[in-house]
Amino acid sequence: MNRVGFVGWRGMVGSVLMDRMRAENDFARIAEPVFFTTSQVGQPGPDVGRGAQPLLDAESLDALREMDVIVTCQGGDYTKSIHPRLRASGWDGYWIDAASALRMEPNATIILDPVNGHVIDAALDAGQRDFIGGNCTVSLMLMAIGGLFHAGLVEWVSAMTYQAASGAGAKNMRELLEQMGALHASVRPLLADPASAILDIDRGVTETMRDAGFPTASFGAPLAGSLIPWIDTQLENGQSREEWKGQAETNRILGLETAPIPVDGLCVRVGAMRCHSQGLTIKLTRDVPLPEIEQLIAGANEWVRVIPNDRSLTVRELSPAAVTGTLSVPVGRLRKMNLGPDYLSAFTVGDQLLWGAAEPLRRMLAILAD
Ligand code: HSE
Repeated sequence: MNRVGFVGWRGMVGSVLMDRMRAENDFARIAEPVFFTTSQVGQPGPDVGRGAQPLLDAESLDALREMDVIVTCQGGDYTKSIHPRLRASGWDGYWIDAASALRMEPNATIILDPVNGHVIDAALDAGQRDFIGGNCTVSLMLMAIGGLFHAGLVEWVSAMTYQAASGAGAKNMRELLEQMGALHASVRPLLADPASAILDIDRGVTETMRDAGFPTASFGAPLAGSLIPWIDTQLENGQSREEWKGQAETNRILGLETAPIPVDGLCVRVGAMRCHSQGLTIKLTRDVPLPEIEQLIAGANEWVRVIPNDRSLTVRELSPAAVTGTLSVPVGRLRKMNLGPDYLSAFTVGDQLLWGAAEPLRRMLAILAD
């Protein structure tokens, strides 16, 4: 791999990508990493082992056309503006993108190689050039229960999500903390007094949360001390766009679009920082004993971990607090449900900035470098 251009490397997902690439020494495999900017052309770029080079203009098609690979975390508007013009100009390099803009395009492949390495290989063999990171919730669900899909055991899945603030953006993470701080500050004296009444504290918190001055510019509603049962835009069929992605992207990733497996559920924003969690109801194609199910799940990739359905282990290991900042994808609460022997419950947690965003991109680069 000669020249690899990076766009949007300073934002939240881009920064996680840079950190992971440094940690894995990925830059050593790239002859010439080139850093682009939309606002600071000519200023020194990051030093990734070859000294800092001046930043190039991310809007310059001529500069971008010199790249063998472009990796962008700049967002969907950038992709929509640049990608069609770059391709129309005859550029046939690899485009690796964190944004959703191109995901469902016929020539694009959604990348999650521990789950769909075979789909990626086939796309490369077929000469495809656009490789797009998947929706974070879908990618994390497939990292967790990909083993069941591969074994042909999934008739349908209902995914009820508990999605972190980071999925909405860096500003939203800050706003969540501001909301938490505002709630605490509004009752601090009462809280410090052991003799105060809890319902007085609760009243103070509720008044603060409903006050016009409560910081909700980014979320549009209180999240701290509350939740928001809608993520992304509204579709005509009553789903949110995030819910629609569940089935569309799962089947696209697995290469099952001709006979799609139904996936649906409700997507909910909760006050976690960067880990998405999901409560899954899985309708199995047949009644399989739980130990076999656990083996299939655990054996699917090296990051998934089955957490025994035990209270103390679950509380300790199956939470955003335990998982955040790691590549581990724990799956627990595995049990057959009262609904019948072929209904399986599961709960899974994953860092949406790692497997949900940056990690599949850096791994795609590594595949191209091999
Ligand atoms: N759409 C996701 C969310 C993040 O809002 O949590 C990106 O996949």
